[in-house]
Amino acid sequence: MCGIVGYIGNKSALDILLDGLTNLEYRGYDSAGIAVNVDNQVELYKAEGKLQNLKDVTALNRAHIEKSTIGIGHIRWATHGAPTKTNAHPHSCNCGRVAIVHNGIIENYKELRAKLEKQGCVFRSQTDTETVAHLIASKFANTKDLAEAVKLASKEIEGAYALCVIHQDVKDTIIATRRNAPLLVGIGEGEYYIASDVPAIIKYTKKAMYLDDNQIAVLTPNSMKLIDIDNNALTPKIEELPWEPVALSKMGYKHFMLKEIHEQPNVVRNVLAGKLRAIDENVILNEVTLDKDRIKNLNRIQIVACGTSLHAAMVGKYIIEQYCGIVVDVEPSSEYIYRKTITDKNTLVIGVSQSGETADTITAIRQAKSKGSHILIITNRPDSTMAREADSLIPVSAGIEVSVAATKSYMAQVISFYLLAIYMAEIKGSVAVQDLERLKKELVLLPQKIEKVLSHKEDVQVCARKFANSKDFIFIARGINFPTALEGALKLKEISYINATGYTAGELKHGPIAMLDESMPVLSILVKGGVYEKILSNSEEAKARNARMIALTNSEDTKLTDLFECIIRIPEIDEMLSPALAIVPLQLLAYYISEFLGKDVDQPRNLAKSVTVE
Ligand code: AGP
Repeated sequence: MCGIVGYIGNKSALDILLDGLTNLEYRGYDSAGIAVNVDNQVELYKAEGKLQNLKDVTALNRAHIEKSTIGIGHIRWATHGAPTKTNAHPHSCNCGRVAIVHNGIIENYKELRAKLEKQGCVFRSQTDTETVAHLIASKFANTKDLAEAVKLASKEIEGAYALCVIHQDVKDTIIATRRNAPLLVGIGEGEYYIASDVPAIIKYTKKAMYLDDNQIAVLTPNSMKLIDIDNNALTPKIEELPWEPVALSKMGYKHFMLKEIHEQPNVVRNVLAGKLRAIDENVILNEVTLDKDRIKNLNRIQIVACGTSLHAAMVGKYIIEQYCGIVVDVEPSSEYIYRKTITDKNTLVIGVSQSGETADTITAIRQAKSKGSHILIITNRPDSTMAREADSLIPVSAGIEVSVAATKSYMAQVISFYLLAIYMAEIKGSVAVQDLERLKKELVLLPQKIEKVLSHKEDVQVCARKFANSKDFIFIARGINFPTALEGALKLKEISYINATGYTAGELKHGPIAMLDESMPVLSILVKGGVYEKILSNSEEAKARNARMIALTNSEDTKLTDLFECIIRIPEIDEMLSPALAIVPLQLLAYYISEFLGKDVDQPRNLAKSVTVE
């Protein structure tokens, strides 16, 4: 949530900051701002709304701003205070000499603000961040040392933060620090880049250092000093970033979401590569460090996740219970952390997260870790906070996902769960070898089937045009595709703002059926298998209440044409693997409806890709 960039070096900072913010727009886009130092004067430029507004503001004064070779920038997802220009970062103090950008939440900001106001600080915004600007300024007034001022301030701050600070009186220095919010320092030749996330800096450098909690980096164009909150000198751990700049291009697609949907066949191939080598060989999952005896003795698995990752976890529950015979509980991380949870060393706790930075999931896994559970993390970001907390880490290799609506990362998570289930089933001997071989064969064939869906999108486009003006949408399914219904509905809500809900088809008649009439589309996920006839009969019930029926199916059953107004077809697939195929047309349906309605597909209102606040 919120994106931070910083630059200090020998180049003009302006374009580096704006470019970095462009690549962090997925983290929030309520307002944006930068602070630079021109002619020994700290100057702030801010704008409400999308980043383009800030670009327009800075364009008016470009020749002047360009003179600065130091700067910090911020793109905001509002937590405290409305998304206005006044509340936009950077924030400053009374004298305007300090400028800070912040990601996170300062929990004791009210107390700090009251104290600072008594000392004469005048607050302009409603943000928690402004307290930190005043606090640092007041510490600097006494110490005349910016790193010391930041250090003293951070001892008084409670909550989560990633901070970048500049001061007019120390014009060749940026201070960067963090606690429970991500921040990294990119290293160039006579220059340093600071960012909340890799996309902001990957174009400039692949060498970087991730800050750990309570570390403070003191950066000048030619030096980097790393200290901890007690002033101990630390040795920076410099890493090679595992990303390529090309990941951030739309590659000719109109939106990142469409590009990412089309990347899914290769995402499946990547996830399987080296792990599923042959149908008659065991799955190799060296990433799981839990020894075989502990796997055999597991009495319970808990999976924590949010949003789309939660839906992937629900598919995971279904297949692990089916193949491994272990009880699996799936819970939204935000619920898990506020109740008494029962875990022990025979419980495996799995955290699933695209970003690896979702605050609720981080808290949940830390809570489980403190009770002795083995923590397995399934994430698209092996460089994330969650990955660093893991006992076992399965990186899902989907590549950077830019669109706020997750698509390819969901696919990668789901496929990782299949591999994990097969791996554990092979260790436990809990299912017949032929059943596992059938599933492995289907996994290998999956990329081609997804390609087939992607090359025959016409049914989906027709359906999208027909139903784009619906106010509500219902998705129904049973069994292993119930999470598919939830995920299809979530995709549609997120990017088209249509009120969409997923139900287990059998629950329809226990309440939701009351909502059905000729204006309500009901999309039935009708995959051939154990519950096909049941869903068909639930669809008949819905049709009898005049609902407008849509089928997503791999069945050629001729009676479907009478029952359904629109039929979206997918290739033959084993029911157990069908969630990985059935989700693709639903992602496309959401995409085309959103595009048809003229919505902002990649940056839907009110959302941010990475939810780093609880
Ligand atoms: C997905 O389309 C959403 N943007 C959102 O639900 C997301 O899945 C959720 O915030 C969890 O994020 P994570 O996977 O990075 O933890």
